Amino acid sequence: MLSHSWHSPAVRVTLSAALLAWYDRHRRRLPWRAERGAAADPYTVWLSEVMLQQTTVAAVGPRFESFRARWPSFAALAVADDAAVMSAWAGLGYYARARNMLACARAVAAEHGGVLPDTESALRQLPGVGDYTAAAIAAIAFGRRAAVVDGNVERVVSRLFAIGEPLPGARTAIKARVAELTPAERPGDYAQATMDLGAMICTPRRPACALCPVAEWCVARATGEQERYPVKPTKRERPRRYGTAYWLEDESRVLLVRRPATGLLGGMRALPTGPWEDAPPGLVGAPSDADWELLARRGVEHGFTHFHLTLALAQATGTSDMAGEWWPVGELGSAGLPTVFRRAAEAFVEELGVVE
Ligand code: ADE
Repeated sequence: MLSHSWHSPAVRVTLSAALLAWYDRHRRRLPWRAERGAAADPYTVWLSEVMLQQTTVAAVGPRFESFRARWPSFAALAVADDAAVMSAWAGLGYYARARNMLACARAVAAEHGGVLPDTESALRQLPGVGDYTAAAIAAIAFGRRAAVVDGNVERVVSRLFAIGEPLPGARTAIKARVAELTPAERPGDYAQATMDLGAMICTPRRPACALCPVAEWCVARATGEQERYPVKPTKRERPRRYGTAYWLEDESRVLLVRRPATGLLGGMRALPTGPWEDAPPGLVGAPSDADWELLARRGVEHGFTHFHLTLALAQATGTSDMAGEWWPVGELGSAGLPTVFRRAAEAFVEELGVVE
């Protein structure tokens, strides 16, 4: 049985102190984190939080430094070439986030004199800054006592308190608990400590409770039901859509197009596709009336947030007097293709045995 009362401020202080002490010893070394005691750079914190929205630390890690080196400040990013930013973003997920990121840098440069606002409510007004990101920046960059709740924090806190309501409804209760637990001192470190605990110890499966600095306060652990939390909503299948990607080649060059500025993968270079529909569209929307061959055995599967896409592959030989960018097949790696088209291109190259 747990003998601690959650309503006791003394317990909350002890818990957050235990977590901070653990963080000081075991925190992840991440390129956007300031050294202990050093002031955080708001641009660095903002950039990392935007890049980390819906993307893992493992995916962002290697990309972050080159991004920051190329665009080291709000002023630099505000005048960046849109297409260059979109290319650098490839692989980090939804391009709407990259577009918002640019809009945000431009708003900070134009409306705030290049200085990021330092309160949650003012941050919230900026493009691409939602509740989570505003709280994270306010806490980490400006030392404000904001309640920061990401997926890791949700898992840690729903276990600590054995919150039985399923997500997403449980978020209100989780946020209230986080607001109570967050200390006035070092709230940014506290938020990141909870994230690190979730990533390293309080993992979705087989949490390492023996190593956990707050295990003694954990209600889920006391009842041996750690993996039950957070309670998941009943699953709905993502709808499936189908399309065809077209590989039109001429003298070791392939036709690339730029997708419309708005919409999915907006503004990105891509292979031409027809419509994405509920059933395979065959050769509808082919970029020319060449003699298309559908490659029967190969297709590419890709999971977007709201649907699953199956792309069939069709190839033909073209004539490069057609409008569009004719990209050397051997240099496709530098085209900045988003993941789904990079994988389609790899499948074509493998299937057709294109010589580089
Ligand atoms: N995920 C989002 N923000 C993070 C941060 N500051 N540290 C670790 N993981 C994160």
